[in-house]
Amino acid sequence: MADAREGSRGCENRTDSQEDKCSDNDFESSKLGTKEYWEEAYQKELETFKDIGDVGEIWFGEESMSRVLRWMDKAKIPEDAGVLDIGTGNGTFLVELAKHGYRNLTGIDYSPASVELARNVLQAEGLTDVTVKVRSNLSFNPQTCT
Ligand SMILES: C[S@@+](CC[C@H](N)C(=O)[O-])C[C@H]1O[C@@H](n2cnc3c(N)ncnc32)[C@H](O)[C@@H]1O
Repeated sequence: MADAREGSRGCENRTDSQEDKCSDNDFESSKLGTKEYWEEAYQKELETFKDIGDVGEIWFGEESMSRVLRWMDKAKIPEDAGVLDIGTGNGTFLVELAKHGYRNLTGIDYSPASVELARNVLQAEGLTDVTVKVRSNLSFNPQTCT
């Protein structure tokens, strides 16, 4: 995993002149920005889930999910509000949202393996009314959910 993340760094610990040059190229390419990377990662995670029921990695961590939920409480987001989880991965955040009372939930991810994993994870939790679709956020229309 560390290797995959390396491509996103590269402008740290540089001299000023190197920094100037680097700022022209702030967005170095990274494997994490490719659909192929995520599809392969979630194919493995899907196999693991089917084998031993492990949902796999929660990329932004449990604390970030708790923070968003605390913010939603504070902002009094109604439980019937439509919530879209973009790049849902294994769908764990959708599970947490549903357990918190939210009932109009949609997850999208451009990796078909991720969507299959998220559907499996949700089903295992008995959450059959959460919609998960294979979609890129670049083409998804949140108004129509298409
Ligand atoms: C860092 S992972 C986060 C997964 C999950 N939300 C979590 O916290 O564990 C990023 C996710 O975004 C998805 N993704 C990246 N670019 C996307 C795009 N343009 N449209 C839809 N999904 C995308 C990847 O397939 C991957 O599942």
